[in-house]
Amino acid sequence: MNTTAGPATGGVLTRRRFFEGLAAVGGISLALSGMDALGFGMASATELPPTLTGDAKGTRILILGAGLAGMTAAYELSKAGYQVQILEARSFAGGRCQTSRKGFEHTDLLGNKQTCEFDDGLYINHGAWRIPYHHRSTLHYTKLFGVLLESFVNDNDAAYVFFEKGEGPLKGKPIRKGEIAADARGYAAELIAKAASKGELDAALTPADREKFVAYMINEGRLSPKDLAYTGTEGRGFSVHPGAGTSPGPGKELPPFAFKDVLDSGAWRVLSSVTGYEQQRTMLQPIGGMDQIAKGFEKQVGAMIRYSTVVEKIKQTDKGVKVAFKEASGKTGEIEADYCICTIPLSVLKQIDLDASAPFKAAMAGVSYAPVNKIGLQMKTRFWEDKHHIYGGHIYNDIPGIGTITLPSTGWQSQKGVLLGFYNFGGQAARISAMKPAERAAFAVAGGQKVFPEYAENFENAFSFCWHLAEFNLGGWAEWGEDGRRDAYPLLCEPDGRLYLAGEHLSYLGGWQAGAIESAWQQIAKIHARVQQV
Ligand code: ALA
Repeated sequence: MNTTAGPATGGVLTRRRFFEGLAAVGGISLALSGMDALGFGMASATELPPTLTGDAKGTRILILGAGLAGMTAAYELSKAGYQVQILEARSFAGGRCQTSRKGFEHTDLLGNKQTCEFDDGLYINHGAWRIPYHHRSTLHYTKLFGVLLESFVNDNDAAYVFFEKGEGPLKGKPIRKGEIAADARGYAAELIAKAASKGELDAALTPADREKFVAYMINEGRLSPKDLAYTGTEGRGFSVHPGAGTSPGPGKELPPFAFKDVLDSGAWRVLSSVTGYEQQRTMLQPIGGMDQIAKGFEKQVGAMIRYSTVVEKIKQTDKGVKVAFKEASGKTGEIEADYCICTIPLSVLKQIDLDASAPFKAAMAGVSYAPVNKIGLQMKTRFWEDKHHIYGGHIYNDIPGIGTITLPSTGWQSQKGVLLGFYNFGGQAARISAMKPAERAAFAVAGGQKVFPEYAENFENAFSFCWHLAEFNLGGWAEWGEDGRRDAYPLLCEPDGRLYLAGEHLSYLGGWQAGAIESAWQQIAKIHARVQQV
C-alpha cells in the first residue's frame, strides 16, 4: 500500500493505480478482467475462493504461517482433499489479525515486555481493525464462519479536528468536523455559484446547464437561493438545541466560521479522507475484536497447526520441499511435503536460509516494510460520549507522532472504553516506538489532552504495539515502490520450484486482510492446476 497520505486516510490506493498495477502484472487482459470483476460496485478483484475440482492425489502441502493467508490456504486445500500442515512461529494463530485484551503479552525486539491490563471485555485491535464493504473475500469468511459484525465508524461529523500548525483563530482548537465541512463546502459553493450566475463559467456550461449547475451549488452548499450567499446551516449544529415547549425556542444555529479562518486552519485537508477507494464513512468490524476472524479460521484448521514452531531453513528438490524448524522447547525437526506455501512476511523471510533461485531472492529484496504503531488507552469514563457527544470516529489532527486518535465503535455508553491513542506510519512510528511503553503512553496522553480536557484524568492503562519491532513481522505491511511492483513483484507471484509465496505483500490490497486471503486463493488455484497435470 502506498502510504503517502497520513494515517487519517489510511493511505490512498487509487482506482487508477490498481488497474495500472493489474496491467503491469498480467497485461491489459488481466486489467480488463479486474475491471470486469470490480464493476460499479468497486469490489476487490476476487469475491469467492477458487473451485478446486479434481483429485488432490494425496498431495502434501506445508504452509508456513497461520495468518489469514496461511489459514485460508489450509482451509480450502484441506476441503479439496490435500494433506495440510501449518507451522506457526507464535503460540497463537492470526498473524496481523490480533486483538489485545487482558492478559495478552508482547515482548518487542527492544526487550519491552507488556502484559495488557485492560478490564475484562475491553480491547484494542492493534493490527487489522476495519473492513471495507467491498472486501468481499474477507466478508465471505466472516459470513461462512459466523463471525458477527458491527459498524466501524470511520468518519464522524461530530468528531473533532485539531490542527495546531495552521494559522488564524481556529488554530489549535478542537472543531467539529461537520462545522468545517459545512463551511468549506458552503463558501466554495457560494463562490462558484456566483461566478456561474454571472456567466463567468459560460465557456464550460451551456445556458441550460448553467441553471442546473447553480441549482446544484445551492443544494450542495446550502446557499440562499435569493442571493446565493452561504450564511451557515443547521447541519453544522446548534448552540442551543431544538427541543420541546417554547423555550429555548427552535434552537440557535451556530454561526459559520469566516471563510478565511477555515482556509487558514488547514482543517479542510481532512474532508477528502473517506472519498478514496479504501476508506468509507461506515466500515465493518467483528463484534468482540478482530481476532474473532482468526478464531473463526482456527476452529476449522487449528488441528493442522504446529504452534511455537519457528522456520529455520527451507530446502527444495525436484520432488518436494523440506523445512527445518525449531520449537519453543529448543527441539528441532524437519518436515517434508510436496509443495510449500510460505506466508512469512518478506521482511522476515529474507533472513531465513532459503533455497530459491537467485532472481527470486533478488526480487525479495525489492520491497520494504512500513514501520507502524498503535496504542490503546483505557479510560475510566467515556468522556468523549458523555461530555462531547461523539460516538466513534477519528480525531483528525496534526500533532506529530499521534497520527490518528480513534474513538471506539463498540460499547457505546458503557462505563469505560479503550480508545486508539496514536496510529503512526513511517518515521513517526519509528520515533515514537523507540520510547519505553510507559513513555509512549505518556506521550499519547499528552497529545490527546490537547483535544480533550478530560483525557489525562481518565487515563488508566495502555498497551502499545509496534509492528516493525515485532519479531515475526518486522513491519506493518509491505510497501512496493513503482520499480519493485514492475520488476520484482510479478516474479514473486509465481512459484519458485515448489515454493509459492502468499500474503498481503503479494496483492494490490497491501495492508489489508483481503489481500492476504485473495493472494492465498490465487496460489492454491495454481498449485491445484499443477497437481492436476502431474
Ligand atoms: N488497512 C490498514 C488500515 O485500515 C492500513 O489502517
